[in-house]
Amino acid sequence: METIGIYMQRDHELIDGIAERAVAAAVARDWATLEREGSEFLRRLRRHIEVEEDVLFPAFEQRTGMAAGGPSAQMREEHEQMQPILAQLEAAVSGHDGPAYGHASRALLDILVPHNQKEEQMMYPMLDEALGADGPALLSDVKAMAL
Ligand SMILES: [Fe+2]
Ligand SMILES: [Fe+2]
Repeated sequence: METIGIYMQRDHELIDGIAERAVAAAVARDWATLEREGSEFLRRLRRHIEVEEDVLFPAFEQRTGMAAGGPSAQMREEHEQMQPILAQLEAAVSGHDGPAYGHASRALLDILVPHNQKEEQMMYPMLDEALGADGPALLSDVKAMAL
C-alpha cells in the first residue's frame, strides 16, 4: 500500500534527479538547461517543503502532541537553514553563474542529504504510524496539491 512516507520518499528521489541534471548543466555552461532544470528543482523542493510544513507536520503534531523539541520542529529548522542557499541557487540560475550554482548546490546537499535520510528513516514512518487509518485521505489531499 502506498503511504505518505513512500510517496514523499519518491518525491525526494525525483527532486534529487532534477538537482543532478541542473548541476550537470551548470558544469557544462548550458544555460538554457540550467534555467529549466534549476528552476524546476527550486519549484519542486519549495513545494515539497510547503507540503511538509503546512500539511504533514501539523497533522503529526496534532496527533502526537509532539511539537516544540520534537522531530518535526527539527525538520522545520533544517528547512530554514536551506532558505538562504535556495536564494543563492536562484540568483546563480538567473545570473548564469555555473561555479556559484555548483558551490551553493554542494552547500545545500550537506544539509539536504542527511535531512532527507532523517525524514525517510524517522519522520515519515512516525507520521504514517500516527496517521493510521487517516493516512489515505491525507495522501489524497497531498496529491491534490500537485507536487
Ligand atoms: Fe523536509
Ligand atoms: Fe521531505
